Amino acid sequence: MDITPSSPILLFDSGLGGLSVLAQLRKILPEAPVIYAADTAGLPYGEKTEAEIAARVAGLLGRMSERFAPRLACIACNTASTIALGMVRDVLHIPIVGTVPAIKPAAALTRTGTIGLLGTAATIRQAYVDDLEASFANGNRLIRHAAPALVGAAETKLRGGRPAEAVVAEAVAGLRNQPGGEEIDTVVLACTHFPLLETELRAAMGPDVHFIDGSEGIARRIASLTMGQPFDAKIAAKAVVTGELDPALASALAPYAISDITRF
Ligand code: DGL
Repeated sequence: MDITPSSPILLFDSGLGGLSVLAQLRKILPEAPVIYAADTAGLPYGEKTEAEIAARVAGLLGRMSERFAPRLACIACNTASTIALGMVRDVLHIPIVGTVPAIKPAAALTRTGTIGLLGTAATIRQAYVDDLEASFANGNRLIRHAAPALVGAAETKLRGGRPAEAVVAEAVAGLRNQPGGEEIDTVVLACTHFPLLETELRAAMGPDVHFIDGSEGIARRIASLTMGQPFDAKIAAKAVVTGELDPALASALAPYAISDITRF
């Protein structure tokens, strides 16, 4: 495939969570043309089966690649990456960057030796996460908790609403109430929606807890894979969504300088 200055980088998520990755990407690659793709008709992925997620993600990314001819696609979603990354790499012939729970950097950061991990139900049960724990937790204890309601809370916040305090409190209690949970000093945000609630999570978890997510590493990886390529910085970012085009979506995307939103 020929890369031209206007060839976009495709950022894909089930909803608006991938904006946490877009924010980091803009810091290091502000000139890159971006298409932000949200499978809002399929949200939430975390409550679906592996087969449903794999079929949806591979199918949509295949069709989006044909339509937009991206130079690179990033699956800015832990749930989709931990399940479908290999499959998507098999079918698309462009570089695919996935989102991996940041267990390795968390293991380097913890002082108490106890790390918490918040993700969707589908993410936390993946063998992919077991493998990351075995390879990178470095003997530290990893306490996992599925916090699916945080996905909706992050979507609400981005659309200008107030995320429910009870939802954040439940997520924190889900970590703290497990054996050894009071020792957690580092929390892996293993869902791209969750960094969008970091202020609320920090307030509920306490000031001494570190939060860590993969967005900065992903942005660096995208920058390194596209190093030396030409970019047309004049092309504004666009968004495509599979669900309804509701007005709240426009206000959620406006702070990310995206005003061109269409239905895919
Ligand atoms: N943003 C997705 C992730 O990183 C999950 C949201 C969902 O459940 O669809 O896992």
